[in-house]
Amino acid sequence: MNKIFLIVFLFVFSSFSVDASVYKGHKLFKMKCLSCHGKALDFVISKTTQEWEFLLQHNGKMIRNEHLQREDAQASMEYFNSDSYKDHIPHFRDFFLEYAADTGNIPACD
Ligand code: HEC
Repeated sequence: MNKIFLIVFLFVFSSFSVDASVYKGHKLFKMKCLSCHGKALDFVISKTTQEWEFLLQHNGKMIRNEHLQREDAQASMEYFNSDSYKDHIPHFRDFFLEYAADTGNIPACD
């Protein structure tokens, strides 16, 4: 009996923390990316899980490099070079993978 309770508890608890991270990723996107990329969810659902996994590998180095090469993205380099960017990667990952094109997940609101 106790075991079942524990399993249920762990299940509920872990799904809560994933939700929290998806939410955090969304919030970070609004703060750090929205100014250039526009509405978060249109941007996020434009890529598949595989594409996001690819872009996010090595602590998001690919995404950083995309910006490094672009004159019009230089304003973002301070953030991409910071430690906070690396700390935020797990939240971006949860958020991007939750709404990637192939998940069919459509967020209720922006
Ligand atoms: C100062 C403006 C600016 C900011 C801030 C910015 N970007 Fe970008 N980003 C660009 C530009 C310009 C490009 C290259 C043109 C394009 O593909 O849209 C780009 C390209 C990208 C690409 C590759 C484009 C593609 O379609 O493959 C990704 C992924 C990306 N950005 C993610 C992000 C994320 C995540 C953030 C927030 C952490 C962010 N960007 C913040 C300007 C910005």
